[in-house]
Amino acid sequence: MSPSQILNQSFTLPCGVTIPNRIVKSAMSENNADSGGKPSDRIIKLYETWGKGGAGVLISGNVMMDSKALGEEHNVVVEDEKYLPELTRWATECQKNGSHLWMQINHPGRQAPKFNKDVVSPSNVMLPIMKGMFKEPRPLEETEIWKLIEGFGRTALIAQKAGFKGVQIHGAHGYLVSQFLSTRTNLRTDKWGGSLENRARFAIEIYRNIRQKTGANYPIGIKINSADFQRGAFSEEESLEVIKMLAEEGMDMIEVSGGTYEKAAMMGRKLKKSTQEREAYFADFIVKARKVTNAPLLLTGGFRTLEVMAKAIENKELDFVGIARPFAVNPFLAKELIEGKITEIRGGNVDTGIGFIDKMGFMDTTWHAENMKIMGKGKMPNPKLSPLKVFFKFAWENMFSKK
Ligand SMILES: Cc1cc2nc3c(=O)[nH]c(=O)nc-3n(C[C@H](O)[C@H](O)[C@H](O)COP(=O)(O)O)c2cc1C
Repeated sequence: MSPSQILNQSFTLPCGVTIPNRIVKSAMSENNADSGGKPSDRIIKLYETWGKGGAGVLISGNVMMDSKALGEEHNVVVEDEKYLPELTRWATECQKNGSHLWMQINHPGRQAPKFNKDVVSPSNVMLPIMKGMFKEPRPLEETEIWKLIEGFGRTALIAQKAGFKGVQIHGAHGYLVSQFLSTRTNLRTDKWGGSLENRARFAIEIYRNIRQKTGANYPIGIKINSADFQRGAFSEEESLEVIKMLAEEGMDMIEVSGGTYEKAAMMGRKLKKSTQEREAYFADFIVKARKVTNAPLLLTGGFRTLEVMAKAIENKELDFVGIARPFAVNPFLAKELIEGKITEIRGGNVDTGIGFIDKMGFMDTTWHAENMKIMGKGKMPNPKLSPLKVFFKFAWENMFSKK
C-alpha cells in the first residue's frame, strides 16, 4: 500500500461507527462565537469549508459546557438546547461530504481568565504565570463536581441531538479534567484526590455519564496529556495508567497531546530541541501507550510529512494522525494527502521576531485563529499573514479597545 492508501483506510471504532480515513483535524478554538456563546455564521462557514477537505474526523474547537466558565471570551457555549438550530446547521453543513464532526467539550477550571466571576478547580492552586490574567480558584464542593459531570453529559447529548457524529472530552492542556489528574493542582483528600484512581475519577465519571446518555453506539473520545512536563505533575507513567483505565471503560478514541498553559508542549514549545525538531512531538510516548492498550489511538502535535504519518499507522503505533495548525493554512490538506497531491504540510510555530512578544507564547494560537477567522468570511487562509499585524490587532481588541 502507498502512504496515501494507508491514510485512506477506514477504521471501525469500538462503538461500531466507521470513520472514513485516518486523518483527524484536531481541536482549534475558534473563539468566534456570537454573544452568549451562540455558534456564529462565521464558525459554520469555516466548518463548511473544512467539511470539503477530506478529513475522517473534524474535532471542533473547545465548546464550553458552562457559561460561567469560559476559556476565552468568544467560545461557543452549550449548556442547554437554546442553540440547537445553529448547532444542527453547523453539523449539517460540515458533514455534507462525509467527514464526521465531533464536538470537543471543555471546562477551563483555573485556566479561566479573570473576566469569569467564579473560577473553580479541584483545589485553590493558582496558575503561577500571567498573574494579572488569572485569579485564585475556589475548590469545588462535591455536589458541584457531580453537577459538572452531569453538565458534560448534557452537552454531549445536545451535540448528539444536533447531529454531531461524536464528542471528545478535553482532558488535556491543563484544563479542569487535567487539573483533577495532576497532583500539582489537585490537593484534595476526598475521593477526588490523592491516589491516581481518585484523581482519574472525574474523567471516568464524565465518560460514564456521556455513555449513559448517548448510548452504546455513539463515539466518545478524550484528549489526554502524555505528561504535563513539570516536576510533580501528571507523569508519563500516570498517563499510561489512566489510558488503560479509560480504554477499559470503552473509550472510542484516545488522543495524546501534552503540556499546559505553564508549559506549552502541545505546540512543541519548551521541549528538548531534538524533540522539537523531530516530527510528532509525542511519538515515543505513543509507542508506550500502544503497549498498554488496543483502544484506538490518535496522536497530535508536529506531524508534517505523509511518510511519517503513514509509517506510524503501518507500524500500528497509532490508528489516527491528528493535525491542527496546518488545517488553518490549508483546509483541504487531508484530501490532498490522500490523493497524493502533496507529501508535506505547512504550519507550525509562529513568531513575530520580537522577543518580548514571542516570549508570551500566544502567537501560535492567535495567528492560526486569525486565519480561521478569514475562512469564516468565506475566504481562503493567508499563509503569509504578518504575525506582527496579527499581534497588533489582538492587542487592540483585547487590551486597549475596551478600556
Ligand atoms: C488556534 C489554536 C487553537 C487551539 N485550540 C485547542 C482546543 O480548543 N482544544 C484542544 O484540545 N487543543 C487546541 N489546540 C491545540 C491543537 O489541537 C494541537 O494539539 C496543537 O496545535 C499541536 O498540533 P499541530 O502541531 O498539528 O498544530 C489549539 C491550537 C491552535 C493553534
